[in-house]
Amino acid sequence: MRGIFGYRVLLAPMAGVTDVAFRALCREQGADMAFTEMVSAKGLSFANEKTRHLLALAPGEDRVAVQLFGHEPAVMAREAAWIEDEMGDALAYLDVNMGCPARKIVSKGDGSALMREPELAAAIVAAVKGAVVHPVTVKFRRGWAEGDETAPEFARRMEAAGADGCAVHGRYALQLYRGSADWGAIARVRAAVAMPVVGNGDVRRGADAARMAAETGCDAVMIARGAEGNPWLFSQVRAALSGEEEPAAPTVAERIAMARRHARLLEQREGRNIVRMRKHAMWYLAGLPGAAAARGRLNYCTAPEDFDAVFDDLLAIAAAHDAGAQAACAAGAPDEGRGGGDAARSL
Ligand SMILES: Cc1cc2nc3c(=O)[nH]c(=O)nc-3n(C[C@H](O)[C@H](O)[C@H](O)COP(=O)(O)O)c2cc1C
Repeated sequence: MRGIFGYRVLLAPMAGVTDVAFRALCREQGADMAFTEMVSAKGLSFANEKTRHLLALAPGEDRVAVQLFGHEPAVMAREAAWIEDEMGDALAYLDVNMGCPARKIVSKGDGSALMREPELAAAIVAAVKGAVVHPVTVKFRRGWAEGDETAPEFARRMEAAGADGCAVHGRYALQLYRGSADWGAIARVRAAVAMPVVGNGDVRRGADAARMAAETGCDAVMIARGAEGNPWLFSQVRAALSGEEEPAAPTVAERIAMARRHARLLEQREGRNIVRMRKHAMWYLAGLPGAAAARGRLNYCTAPEDFDAVFDDLLAIAAAHDAGAQAACAAGAPDEGRGGGDAARSL
């Protein structure tokens, strides 16, 4: 893979997920670059504090890409220039969201609604491109309506409008997250344009990334849901892309240790109220013995110690579970019901 602006393995933008703490852990595990949560151009133009907070970086953080959503070319261009000024060298590139299918986004003409308005989409790309020196990319889907694959033609138009690259999620907008991503669509976009093309959709393990690269010819691989509670996926993907053996799945203790670090990093940024850790914690713990009961408790956690108490208990349950499994093995019984690793994640 030749990479997009030198990056091969990317953390996708995920609203409500790709905060500063999660980005740090994914970068540490091998993501070459990480997206912030998407930001509203309109929100930035009103100097909305919440919107600006989404762009706050950790000290020393770099290789951050920012995705804007909106539909007004002049507003998008002005805010892109503002982001560039604010972020300076930390900014890897700017992206325009043309793939989000959420009703509250699409109903305003933003996100994947722009795939139905290619002229407006092209005007946005041209305006943003004219306002910044960093590369500008577009992230979109296979098409709007199921069965009507417009992505290759759409990519050509965006490239003609000045886009420096694109990311393609191989589902239709109306498909939301149903079914599976069609990587053939990524290959067809790859064949349609000269600019770098990032493949996205359903990379859950290292081997998936290697297969996506081989089947589509994409220049980089972008990962979203597979990394939730699982930053290790990036080290697995890197190994698979280099033809090396993938590192082993993390142990229960490693998963809990990562969850604790995540909570600490969030505390450093957000203070003692780290409610947003709840969903991350559920992902880290998914499938571990005792996780189902822990879910209910996590819903009441707000401070770091609240989360620690749940993590301590799960660690103890896992230790008891392991001791039980070992005893059973020693007695010649089959090792049934053992949690952890990939099996746990699929629960
Ligand atoms: C919780 C969540 C939030 C997302 N937010 C965004 C977003 O802000 N911008 C965007 O372009 N895509 C967003 N996506 C889509 C992902 O970036 C990605 O395209 C999609 O999940 C497919 O990749 P995956 O199979 O690796 O998850 C989001 C997905 C999820 C699950």
